[in-house]
Amino acid sequence: MKTIIALAVGAVLAAGSTAALAQDQEGAKALATGVCSACHGPQGHSISPVFPNLAGQQSAYITLQLDAFRSHERGDPNARAYMWGMASQLSDTSIKGLADYYAAQKPAVGEIGDKPLMAEGQKIYTQGIAAQGVPACASCHGKDAEGAGAFPRLAGQHADYLVAQLQGFQSGTRANAPIMANVVRSMSPEQIKAAATYAASR
Ligand code: HEC
Ligand code: HEC
Repeated sequence: MKTIIALAVGAVLAAGSTAALAQDQEGAKALATGVCSACHGPQGHSISPVFPNLAGQQSAYITLQLDAFRSHERGDPNARAYMWGMASQLSDTSIKGLADYYAAQKPAVGEIGDKPLMAEGQKIYTQGIAAQGVPACASCHGKDAEGAGAFPRLAGQHADYLVAQLQGFQSGTRANAPIMANVVRSMSPEQIKAAATYAASR
């Protein structure tokens, strides 16, 4: 899998096309269906939870993230390994084009998890955990986890990807998101898994 991805990425980079394609809207679409799809899948539906689904993600959120990879502000290990290089050649116009392309794709259908975990997750997602000062996720991510603007869609995302991000906010490896660091500060690993499983299933 790794070798295939490396080959696909290498082929596109070797063609010298990324820098040129990274300049305008048409180029953005070519990038999305070319190099980005090697990891994020066709139309932004990826097959591995290491690579987030991008289909139906909020355009403003994607723009902010690509900007944060390019400026090295989002610096968790997988961001460094996979996205710093990718984002380094993108122009602002190309970032906007990529964000609009993915926002317009049909989101993945959420996977329903284990019943008790889903019930606990629903409670956290809709009500928060008052005793621990955890706010309701729905207040920012939306009733159906569809997101809005800078608040990302969580619905249809790989649950394992969401868990990894929540761990990153908590441990400080994804350190450029003070709002989320505050949200997860007191959450246990089980509470994180429950909230992620429920949000992903929407
Ligand atoms: C070699 C694999 C690879 C390629 C190619 C790749 N990405 Fe990524 N991308 C990743 C990984 C891994 C992550 C998750 C990083 C993390 O865990 O912080 C990611 C994260 C992202 C995110 C953040 C999503 C979120 O929910 O926060 C966006 C946006 C993104 N990539 C866009 C792109 C675009 C646009 C391209 C093409 C220009 C691209 N990626 C090419 C591997 C890749
Ligand atoms: C006060 C608003 C707010 C609340 C409440 C909130 N979030 Fe977030 N969340 C955000 C913002 C803003 C981001 C984007 C962070 C960034 O800029 O990188 C985010 C990002 C995330 C991400 C990363 C998504 C991705 O694609 O990488 C996950 C996972 C997440 N939130 C889960 C949750 C869960 C679970 C809860 C409830 C326990 C929650 N959030 C509550 C505002 C909020």
